[in-house]
Amino acid sequence: MIILGINAYHGDAAAAIVRDGELVAAAEEERFNRIKHCAGFPTEAVRYCLREAGIGIEDIDHVGISRDPSAHLHKKVLFAATRAAKQVRGKGERVKGKDVEVLAVTEDELISQRVRDQNGNGNGKGLFSQIRNRLANAAKVRDLPEELSKGLGVSREKLRARFHNVEHHRAHLASSFFVSPFERAALLSIDGFGDFISTMWAVGEGNSIKVLGQVEYPHSTGIVYTATTQFLGFPHYGDEGKVMGLAPYGQPRYIEEFRDIIRTEEQGHFRLNLDYFRHHAEGVDMTWDRGSPVIGRIFSDEYAQVFGPPRAKDAPLTDRDRDIAASLQLRLEEVGFHILNHLHEQTGLTDLGLSGGVAYNSVMNGKILLHTPFRRVYVQPAAGDSGTAIGACYQIYHEFRVPSSKQFRVPSFEFRVEESHSQRDTEAQRNSRQKERELETRNSKLETLVAELETRNPELETRFFMEGAYTGPEFSDEEVRNELGASKLSFEGYSDEEVTRQAARDLADGAVVGWFQGRMEFGPRALGNRSIVVDPRRANMKEILNERIKKREPFRPFAPSILEEHVGDYFEQTHPAPTMLMVYQIKSERRAEIPAVTHVDGSGRLQTVTREVNPRYYQLIEDFYQLTGVPVVLNTSFNENEPIVCTPRDAIDCFLKTKMDVLYLGNNCVRRNSFEF
Ligand SMILES: [Fe+2]
Repeated sequence: MIILGINAYHGDAAAAIVRDGELVAAAEEERFNRIKHCAGFPTEAVRYCLREAGIGIEDIDHVGISRDPSAHLHKKVLFAATRAAKQVRGKGERVKGKDVEVLAVTEDELISQRVRDQNGNGNGKGLFSQIRNRLANAAKVRDLPEELSKGLGVSREKLRARFHNVEHHRAHLASSFFVSPFERAALLSIDGFGDFISTMWAVGEGNSIKVLGQVEYPHSTGIVYTATTQFLGFPHYGDEGKVMGLAPYGQPRYIEEFRDIIRTEEQGHFRLNLDYFRHHAEGVDMTWDRGSPVIGRIFSDEYAQVFGPPRAKDAPLTDRDRDIAASLQLRLEEVGFHILNHLHEQTGLTDLGLSGGVAYNSVMNGKILLHTPFRRVYVQPAAGDSGTAIGACYQIYHEFRVPSSKQFRVPSFEFRVEESHSQRDTEAQRNSRQKERELETRNSKLETLVAELETRNPELETRFFMEGAYTGPEFSDEEVRNELGASKLSFEGYSDEEVTRQAARDLADGAVVGWFQGRMEFGPRALGNRSIVVDPRRANMKEILNERIKKREPFRPFAPSILEEHVGDYFEQTHPAPTMLMVYQIKSERRAEIPAVTHVDGSGRLQTVTREVNPRYYQLIEDFYQLTGVPVVLNTSFNENEPIVCTPRDAIDCFLKTKMDVLYLGNNCVRRNSFEF
């Protein structure tokens, strides 16, 4: 069974393909069209996924999109009707579908449509049914098969797949469970909004996920973080990480104000003090500025009443701004642990799967083991909306592929048996008795193996585990060399052993190294395949990187990659963090050793690297360790204020326009002093 998953019409549009339970490919559209957080339809990402799977669109059995406009419809209608009724009563104005516009900001499918009611009856009569009809119509607005066939340039008749809407948070939850190492786990999706819900928690077991609780629009931790990020003068989609980086510079002296802005309630719930926000009352525009999402102002004037005027973009940062960031971060953590502690109480489980945009808050994630009873945490590498493309696939896979848990337990072996039978038919047609006998023997062996595995909890052994995030395109040496040739760059080629040793020497010598290897990462983090790597022992590396390449705000930290077996030597916690979504405290005695990756509060957003998950990157750090005695490198994404590079061409362009010293593309190395500008 082949499933295509899609996140579309929202930030971080993406596609993924799952074949017989195995994740074959996943990528964000921004990497191909070079529009950051691109929010359209992921045509190029779909094309790539098909290419990677070696199939055409006609081979797809199911297509899932991680939105379901009809989900929670009654809640949407009720909310819209209540708001509209208030407007009618309060202002005596004609109702012109204002609330549908309000809803539009919560419902990505509607964002570009901006549904407008030209037929309001002026007194609210029949309003409920009007809104219901309008929402129901809006749910049909997008014609996914049409969009897909148009995008791929094929006739619609070619599509034989069944199409599915997967509710947004169910897609998130699925992305954090069905590819996790857990057979049973508590799950939390914590987000801005999707399908009218901001937060959903659940328990995953075997091939099913049971929802236990949720927080609905307009209450959302993500909305508070985004609103405050805007107030602090960072207007872009995805700027929340900057505020997280700013927080350790401040004191949480506004914590009581934030406890008033976001209030915890019983049973893991929370509510916003809506006086501080505009989204629920006036609506907030969300538009796509040349493909990137742009969100209108969410915070209300109440913010200025309490904190003073908003910081203008590019104005100097003040103590007040830093203290607001610190208070916001602390409050997010308090609310996050409030939900998680309830989730633990409800389930009694100590394994946790985490997803949703707020799960990119690696500072909060890193403290989960310290503030909750959870002992193991799997964070979906693409925890934000791009990861719902994967979640949609697995939700469908487990819904349609597996009629019984027994079959689910040994999926890969079951498939091999099926394949053997079909091969046997082919051979029979060719009258090859010998082959038939061989296959029968093989089947019988497989059946024995299946029986054996079933007796020892085989699920963990056969289930697909997305441990890293290397699901994107890779390029052959020939393709790399062709691009280098076309760029008229001279380069040296190294053997597999030499290339990491040479790069490690460059790092130790203080070079800024572009490291382009293997398959591109999925999600926001470069994890050693599309990375810029430098020596973390050099305190000035942060400034050098910012000045020569990244041009980032000076308060933002850079992150360390560390050989997993050395984590305990350098960090206070040792739980694996293979996709750089955990921040831990660096041991105080080690901070001076790796100053370029030590944040102001002594923390580091680490990537734990194993040979199994990324052998080449592991070897690079190992070689650096052999040279220097430090099993850590500084790892930042390979880009300059643009989406992370995808192709060798992108990498060469970035190399040429920045002041990187050395570029490794596979086994090929270009040095800056080897050519003229
Ligand atoms: Fe989401």
